[in-house]
Amino acid sequence: MRPLIAGNWKMNMTKTAGTALARDLGLRYAEQAERDYDLLVCPPATIIDAVGQALAGSGVFVGGQDCHAAQDGAYTGEVAAGMLADLGCTHVIVGHSERRQYHGELDLLIGEKAKAAYKAGLIAIICIGETEAERDAGDALAVCSRQIAGSVPNTATPENTVIAYEPVWAIGTGRTPTTGDVAEVHAHIRAELSRHMAGADAVRLLYGGSVKPGNASQLLAVPNVDGALVGGASLSADDFWAIAQSCV
Ligand code: PGA
Repeated sequence: MRPLIAGNWKMNMTKTAGTALARDLGLRYAEQAERDYDLLVCPPATIIDAVGQALAGSGVFVGGQDCHAAQDGAYTGEVAAGMLADLGCTHVIVGHSERRQYHGELDLLIGEKAKAAYKAGLIAIICIGETEAERDAGDALAVCSRQIAGSVPNTATPENTVIAYEPVWAIGTGRTPTTGDVAEVHAHIRAELSRHMAGADAVRLLYGGSVKPGNASQLLAVPNVDGALVGGASLSADDFWAIAQSCV
């Protein structure tokens, strides 16, 4: 499967810094002869337009970090999936653990957001993953099953959906699961997805949580890991590029 390396910039980057980073990545990707992987950056909404322009013609995709479930309306401060598409976005992250944790987003809402993404022609990157307490309790697989059942719409296809497994305790902590644990969870996610949709074998499953240049090759070599969702390390062109080169 063609891997996807996605950068989630979170609430970081000014327009100047973000466009400089994008231009740097875009040049490297455009000049690369062997490009058997997709590269995506998800900047904050304020600079999606500028970053998209900086990446024009490079082949690097631009995505949003979240969207509202409604198409439009009286939702102050929110961004609709169609607005992201209007700026040239191809993807949108939904259900990131920081949205679940700080905004109280539940599976049902995340599924509605994924449907809004489909309606706008975007690929939804649906995030799932257990907390540390859930892993300690032996519930990691059950949590992923529950989140898939609740947040992956029955209209999901391999073309419109990417699943990102991000153990909450690994995000921004420098800690990662063992490759054995990642393999176990990703195989489980693949099996669970096949109960919910056709073509689950072709859905890209990303691993996310403290992916760095030093561990990317190992994590990306795990069976059923079809790419990475990268937070902190995606803010540095050198680090993000080094991670992407694990796919070459
Ligand atoms: P991290 O974040 O790479 O900084 O751990 C990953 C994410 O939240 O997507």
